[in-house]
Amino acid sequence: MGRGLTEDEQDIDRLGNLLQPQFPDSVQQAALAGLRRVTGKHAAEVLLMRWKSSSPALRPELLSALLTRREWIQELLVALEQGQIPTGQIGTPEQQRLRTHRDGSIRQRAVKLFDVTESERQKVVESYRGVAGLKGDLARGGELFQQNCVVCHQVQGRPQVGPDLGALADKSVETLLIAILDPNRAVEARYVNYTAATKDGRELSGIMTAETSNSITLRSTTGEETILRSDLEQLTSAGLSPMPEGFEKVLTPQGLADVIAFITKK
Ligand code: HEC
Repeated sequence: MGRGLTEDEQDIDRLGNLLQPQFPDSVQQAALAGLRRVTGKHAAEVLLMRWKSSSPALRPELLSALLTRREWIQELLVALEQGQIPTGQIGTPEQQRLRTHRDGSIRQRAVKLFDVTESERQKVVESYRGVAGLKGDLARGGELFQQNCVVCHQVQGRPQVGPDLGALADKSVETLLIAILDPNRAVEARYVNYTAATKDGRELSGIMTAETSNSITLRSTTGEETILRSDLEQLTSAGLSPMPEGFEKVLTPQGLADVIAFITKK
């Protein structure tokens, strides 16, 4: 690529081919830096094509690249509107940037896209509003936590898939209800679930806890596994949290009040 970048689609595709998990992070970063410099819609298509296989470190950079050109933002919005990328993958600051973009059509589409009031999950959250007024039972909450949450949210020698819930005491009930009943509303890049297919026919899934120049490490509730980049057939993520949706099926409002009492120690 040393002969200088053209806007040639083939050059763009060549850079796009380097933006894959089989290559070291440094190579992918260099390819991304090259793509940032070209103009035209095709570069955005290539960036979006690589979204699902991008690592937690690369994904925020793909997003920031896509936000640098109005034409690329349009492509990103199409991918979001079509559900290729879940809206929970776009962080609050970036959502804010798009909602307030100086281009009116971008603004309008963003406001519509990131409006959660009509979503099914939001309706579930609303039906649990009453939890705020219930007195939780700490002991009962501990039992329910043990049954439903501990596989991902407990240290005790086991690798953890979910974050430490020890520092949530100051969070509002509303925030916790959203986190528990609508886990995909906002998913941090490092907690996105990946699926890897290896050349010897295995399929593994989990959050990506580490990447080196020649390997990636996935962690699930059953443990951690390191896979050589050269053994990867495919790496993909739907952009969703490993935390399941649907806890309303096992937790009544009182049950959820108990669990919240347990995690906030109140
Ligand atoms: C299969 C794994 C898994 C299970 C089971 C699970 N979680 Fe999670 N949880 C996660 C992951 C991963 C995240 C981080 C996702 C993100 O940031 O979007 C998370 C995030 C959270 C958060 C937000 C934490 C923060 O710092 O903002 C809360 C609260 C939470 N979980 C509570 C629970 C409760 C309560 C249960 C049981 C009823 C539960 N989780 C069950 C994996 C799990």
